[in-house]
Amino acid sequence: MKTLYQPGEAGGKNLLLLHGTGGDETSLVDIARFLDGSCRIVSFRGEIQEDGMNRFFKRNGLNQFDFESLEQESDHLLAAIEKESAEKGVAMEDWILVGYSNGANIAAHLLLERKTPLRQGIFFHPMSLEVHTQQFELSDKRVWLSYGGEKDPIVSRESFDELVKAFQTRQADVTIEQTERGHQLDMSELQSAKTWLDSQS
Ligand code: MLT
Repeated sequence: MKTLYQPGEAGGKNLLLLHGTGGDETSLVDIARFLDGSCRIVSFRGEIQEDGMNRFFKRNGLNQFDFESLEQESDHLLAAIEKESAEKGVAMEDWILVGYSNGANIAAHLLLERKTPLRQGIFFHPMSLEVHTQQFELSDKRVWLSYGGEKDPIVSRESFDELVKAFQTRQADVTIEQTERGHQLDMSELQSAKTWLDSQS
């Protein structure tokens, strides 16, 4: 996968960045630096093309997900994270997934549907992909999720709540932030994510 790497400074967090539809590996870099000015960054570019836009898995229209592609690309992403982990000498459990929209969706899917040492995530405007094939406990996972309110044209309250429930019923530690700006990121949620990240070991 096309990957951007920026080394961090001592004491910085290790962030794995996953952009939204139409973004690329540079899209979340400024946000990552806002979240932690000392962070190490590995940022991926989704390999699926949709009318010239990068994504992390295929879909057949808005929220019409291609589940075969989702599973294939999830395995592919996990392998890419494992490779980066080995190359950079960072243990899998020391990475924090940071995703927006489509990137948040595949990152949350990884935590819910693959047994992996990955344990922390910041998910901006994610939704449930309605895949619930696993039941292993997620008590080692800590996730922060934001919802853009009723004005979000992509993520419904029901879909966001279903995702939250999927984490909570399997004992993950879940923090929720609600905004009123729809699918767009806003400063208050970035500040909230930063405060949560600062509190993480
Ligand atoms: C998705 O396709 O993952 C969601 O609808 C979010 C997006 O539009 O990227």
